[in-house]
Amino acid sequence: MPNQEKSNTNAQLESQAIFALERGWIAVAIEKWTEISHIHEILVDHPKGLGLEGELMEARLLYLAMQQRSDHYFDLAKAVRKWIDEKASASHYSATLLEKLPLALPDSLIIGAEAIDDDHRQLVGRLNQIGESLQEKNGGQIEPLVQSFVGATRAHFTNEEKFLASVGHPGLAGHSHYHDALAVRADELALLVAEMVKGDISRHALFQALANYLFNDPVVADVELRPFFQTA
Ligand SMILES: [Fe+2]
Ligand SMILES: [Fe+2]
Repeated sequence: MPNQEKSNTNAQLESQAIFALERGWIAVAIEKWTEISHIHEILVDHPKGLGLEGELMEARLLYLAMQQRSDHYFDLAKAVRKWIDEKASASHYSATLLEKLPLALPDSLIIGAEAIDDDHRQLVGRLNQIGESLQEKNGGQIEPLVQSFVGATRAHFTNEEKFLASVGHPGLAGHSHYHDALAVRADELALLVAEMVKGDISRHALFQALANYLFNDPVVADVELRPFFQTA
C-alpha cells in the first residue's frame, strides 16, 4: 500500500476509534486503534484482554490532549484508564514476547524520513540484543546493555528534535515535551534491571517494560510526523 494511502487509512482508523470512545464503546475503540499501531505484532496482550494496547491508546489520547490542549481527549483517556483498571492488571505479563525475537519495526510505523526510520530500526536492534541476552539468562551483560539502550533512546530523541527543527516541522514543540516525559520513564528502567537481578521481577517483565518504553515513541507520538513527510 502506498504511504499516502496508508496514512489516510490510519487517520480514518483513529477517527473511528475516537468516535467509538465518545460513545463508550471502549473495547471497539481500542481494537481500531490497535490496527494503526500494529502493536499486537510486537507486544503481548494481557491474558484477560487488551490491557497493553489499552495503555498505549491511553498514552495516545493523553498526547492528543496535550498537543491540542483539549479536555475532551483527557476525559477519553480517563475513560480508557477506568476500563483498563476494571479489566486487567497491567503488572501481569505473559511470557511470550521474548519468544517472538527478533522484533521488527512494523510498516505502519515507518515515518518516511530516513534519518528517523533508521534510528528506530537501530533501537529495535538493540532491544533484540537485550532480548537475546535475557533468553540466555546472561544476567551480567544486561545492565550495560540496558544502559546503552537507554542512552541511545535519549540520543534518538535529541537527534529527532534536531532533524524536525531542520525541516521546520510544526509539531516540534509538543513532540519534544513528549520526549521529555519518556526520558523520565527511562530512569525507571534502570531500577527494573536491579529488581530483575535481585529476582523481584521476571526477565519477561523487564523485556516487556523495555519494549513498551521503546515503542511508545514511534507508536504514540511519531505517527503524528508522518503526514508532513509524505506531502513534503
Ligand atoms: Fe522517534
Ligand atoms: Fe519522537
